[in-house]
Amino acid sequence: MSRAVFPGTFDPPTVGHLDIVTRAAAAFDELIVATGVNQSKNRLFGPQERIEMLTELVEPFPNVRIGSFEGLLVDYCRAEGAGVIVKGLRSAADYDYELQMAQLNRRMTGVDTVFLPTAPEHAFISSSWVKEIARLGGDVSTFVTPAVHTRLLNTL
Ligand code: PNS
Repeated sequence: MSRAVFPGTFDPPTVGHLDIVTRAAAAFDELIVATGVNQSKNRLFGPQERIEMLTELVEPFPNVRIGSFEGLLVDYCRAEGAGVIVKGLRSAADYDYELQMAQLNRRMTGVDTVFLPTAPEHAFISSSWVKEIARLGGDVSTFVTPAVHTRLLNTL
């Protein structure tokens, strides 16, 4: 049985993340969407809220569950018995950043990374920009699900 982990900060999850979940859920027997800590990012939502948003997001997928981790991603993968990490790639800049992490993760534990190219209609969406646009009063309703949009408006 193939088990994969789709890790991210998900602060908040976007429709781009949902697209990757949809495609990875079709490609693997089991998918764990896991919230981790990117030390370089300021977070708007706390861990529990991000887990709640992700739980709502993956509700339609019977083979997807939510997890969270604080240490190394590869340690989490090993503990969960997952041999593959799934990442979405939006651009060459993503590729440069993600390639290095993928190679480090594989060297450390043998856990491999599978990249899914982001759908073109989502390629410009990022959680960071969604937060900034929303903070400054812009309309982000097409970048996130309605449930996440409501939370964003209630949190800012
Ligand atoms: O939302 P992001 O920024 O793409 O998520 C990045 C994340 C959390 C997946 C990444 O920072 C990560 O794997 N953090 C866990 C710590 C870790 O394993 N660091 C070594 C990476 S080679």
